[in-house]
Amino acid sequence: MEIKTVAVLGAGLMGHGIAEVCAMAGYNVTMRDIKQEFVDRGMNMIKESLAKLEQKGKIKSAEEVLSRIKPTVDLEEAVKDADLVIEAVPEVVEIKKQVWEEVDKLAKPDCIFTSNTSTMRITMLADFTSRPEKFAGLHFFNPPVLMRLVEVIRGEKTSDEVMDLLVEFVKSIGKTPVRVEKDVPGFIANRVVAPRGVLLHAVVEAENLTPEEVDAAFRKAGYPMGPFELADYVGIDVNYNAARYFARAVSPEYEPPERVRKMVEEGRLGRKTGRGWYDWS
Ligand code: CAA
Repeated sequence: MEIKTVAVLGAGLMGHGIAEVCAMAGYNVTMRDIKQEFVDRGMNMIKESLAKLEQKGKIKSAEEVLSRIKPTVDLEEAVKDADLVIEAVPEVVEIKKQVWEEVDKLAKPDCIFTSNTSTMRITMLADFTSRPEKFAGLHFFNPPVLMRLVEVIRGEKTSDEVMDLLVEFVKSIGKTPVRVEKDVPGFIANRVVAPRGVLLHAVVEAENLTPEEVDAAFRKAGYPMGPFELADYVGIDVNYNAARYFARAVSPEYEPPERVRKMVEEGRLGRKTGRGWYDWS
C-alpha cells in the first residue's frame, strides 16, 4: 500500500488545515464539503495560511501547494481515486454514519479510512463501513498547520499494517505521531483534559468569574491561550458536541452547561461566527 492521494472530507477549521498540511508534504488532495460556500471558505483559509507561510520562507511556493488541492462538493469525485480518506465532518454520530456509509460504497477497496474525531470511539465509526480492519483514528489538533501532535488510534479491528502505515504517513507530513492502542472516548489528550472542562464551568459559576479573568490568569501562567479563548478558537459547537458525546459514553457529569447550550442555539460559535465567549467582530 502506498499513499499518494488523500481525500479530506470537511473544509472547516480542521478539514482545511489537514488538507493544507497534506498538500504541503506533496500529496495530491481533494477537499470536499457539502456546499460550495463551505468549500470556498476552506480554500480561502488555506490561501491566507499559505501566504503567511510563504512570506516566512516556510514553503517555497503557495501557488505550487495550492495546485495540489482540488476542492469539490461531489463525494464520489473526492474519494474515488483516494488512497487515504481523512474525515473531518461535524462531531455528530448520525452525520459521521451517513458519510461513512456512502464513502464505503464509493472508495477503492484498498483505500484506508480515518476519522479526525476528537472523541468518538473508532470501533463504532469503523463498524459503519465494511472494512473495519482498514479504519483508524487520525486526530489532529487545531490549528493543524502549527500543532505537531497527531494521535493515531487503533480501533478493535484495525490491522497492524494500517497502524504502521499511518504512523509513517504522519511522519511524512512533518508531524509527531502518538500511537493510541486503547480506543476510549477522547483517546489520550481529550480524555485527560475533558474533566477540566467540567470543573472549569462549575468553579467559574460558583466564584462568579469572567472569561477575561480566567484567561488572563492562564496567560500569566505561561499558557498560549486561556480556556475560554481556546474554546472560541476551537469552536463552541465542537466542544459542545464533544461534551455531549462524553456525557453519553463516559458519564452524565460531562453534560455541557445550559449557557453553552444556549450559545450553540444562538449561533455564538466562537471566532468563526464573530462571537463566542468574546466578541471577535
Ligand atoms: N497558518 C499559518 N500561520 C498561522 C496560522 C495558520 N493557520 N495560525 C497562526 N499562524 C501564525 C500567526 O500569523 C502568527 O504569525 P506571526 O508571529 O508572524 O504574527 C503565529 O502563527 C503565531 O500566532 P499568533 O500570534 O496568533 O498567536 P500565538 O503565538 O498564540 O500562536 C497558537 C497561535 C499556536 C495557536 C497558540 O496560541 C497555541 O498553541 N494555542 C493553543 C492551541 C491548542 O491548544 N490547540 C489544541 C486545541 S484542542 C484540539 O484541537 C483538539 C480537539 O480535539 C478539539
